[in-house]
Amino acid sequence: MEKLRLGVLGSGKGSNYRAIQEAILRGELEAETRLVISDVETAGILGLARGYGVRAEYVAPGRYRTKLEPEAEERVVKLLSEAGVELVVLAGYMRLVKEPLLEAFGGRIINIHPSLLPAFPGLEAWKQALAAGAVETGCTVHYVDRGMDTGPIIAQRRVPVLAGDTPETLHARIQVQEHEVYPEVVRGIVAGRRGND
Ligand code: GRF
Repeated sequence: MEKLRLGVLGSGKGSNYRAIQEAILRGELEAETRLVISDVETAGILGLARGYGVRAEYVAPGRYRTKLEPEAEERVVKLLSEAGVELVVLAGYMRLVKEPLLEAFGGRIINIHPSLLPAFPGLEAWKQALAAGAVETGCTVHYVDRGMDTGPIIAQRRVPVLAGDTPETLHARIQVQEHEVYPEVVRGIVAGRRGND
C-alpha cells in the first residue's frame, strides 16, 4: 500500500504540521508530505519543512488579504498536482480557499479550526470563546468547502475554559488537543482509503 501523499498549506508557525510530520517519522502514519506551501515568505512552517528535508514553497499571495489572487491559487494547484498530492492539509492557513483549489481538490481538503464549530468560526476563535464567556471550547477538523470554517465535520475535541484564562493560555490548551487530533484524522483517512481498495 502506497503512502498517502500530503500537501500542506500554512501561514504561521506550523505546529500542527509538525505534529503530523512527527507522527509520520514515528511510523504512526502511512503518509508522506510531498510539499509545504505558504503565502507568508517568513512563516515558520517553511523553515520547519526544510528542516525535515521536505520541499517548501512560498507563493506570493497577490493583492487580496483574505484569499489568494486567482493566479496565485492556480500556481498552488499546479504545485500540488505536479507533486502528486492526494490530500491537502490546511495547517494554520489564513486565507479562504477559492474555486481553483476547490475544483481541483474538492472533498480532499481538510482544515483544523480552534473552536467547536459551528461555534466561533473565523479569526482568533479562542478569543471569541473567551469574550462570549464560554465554559468550554475546543477544536474541529473538517472538510473544506466554499464557506468560512464550514464543511462536514470529521472530528472534534473539547477543551475547558478555565477561570483566569488568557487568550494565550486557552489557545495553548486547544493546541495540545489539535496536535493529537489532526494526525489521528489523517490516520483515519489513510485507513478509509485502505478499506476502499
Ligand atoms: C491553529 O490554532 C489552527 O487551529 C488555526 O491556526 C492555528 C495554526 O497553528 N487554523 P500552527 O501554525 O499549526 O501552530
